[in-house]
Amino acid sequence: MRILLIGATGTIGKIIHPELAKKHEIISAGRNSGDFRIDLSDTNSIEKLFREVKNIDACICVAGDCYTGDLLSLDEEKLNIGIKNKLLGQVNLVLTGQKYLNNNGSFTLTSGKMADKPVKNNISKAIVNGGINSFVLSASLELERGIRINAISPGKVSDIPIEDLINAYSKSVEESINGEIIKVNY
Ligand SMILES: NC(=O)c1ccc[n+]([C@@H]2O[C@H](COP(=O)([O-])OP(=O)(O)OC[C@H]3O[C@@H](n4cnc5c(N)ncnc54)[C@H](OP(=O)(O)O)[C@@H]3O)[C@@H](O)[C@H]2O)c1
Repeated sequence: MRILLIGATGTIGKIIHPELAKKHEIISAGRNSGDFRIDLSDTNSIEKLFREVKNIDACICVAGDCYTGDLLSLDEEKLNIGIKNKLLGQVNLVLTGQKYLNNNGSFTLTSGKMADKPVKNNISKAIVNGGINSFVLSASLELERGIRINAISPGKVSDIPIEDLINAYSKSVEESINGEIIKVNY
């Protein structure tokens, strides 16, 4: 398969990229790194990427910033970091990418454990991750041309056996699952 991997140089990207590359052609993209440039918080940049990179079977996103801090420190501006970048960035990736992905392609988004097992100082991540999961559940009912969508919801990556993380992303891309939130290390 030809896989567009957004955030390939990040903590998760560096783990899954070499493994996926054993079986698939990987096109990497990031804000400042990778084969192509994309800023998830900029819709025009998403559209530009899909116009440039053609014939994509699977799009994996392991990118998106979020604010970390307690409830008292949180305000609209800080909340918007995660909403515009990680949540709307990944939603817009699908809204735009659905027009370009090959038939029977797939989207794999990344949310995180804070959606349903929050710990203190992570309210922004809880909101954003929950939004991503809800988007995946509902979009999976409507995507056309056989296109599938799943979310990987990892716990802290440094605590996860890397095989579990790799298996989760591989499963979403290679198996015929749709509308699943794959929880890793809960
Ligand atoms: N690490 C964890 O323990 C963990 C656990 C659960 C969930 N997650 C989630 O998984 C995702 C990836 O985490 P990570 O730890 O691998 O992140 P990371 O190490 O910070 O790496 C982020 C990657 O995404 C790219 N990126 C960042 N902002 C971008 C943007 N606006 N547009 C396009 N590319 C962008 C970066 O590229 P450049 O360097 O070129 O900017 C980099 O390749 C995040 O959404 C995070 O919340 C992470």
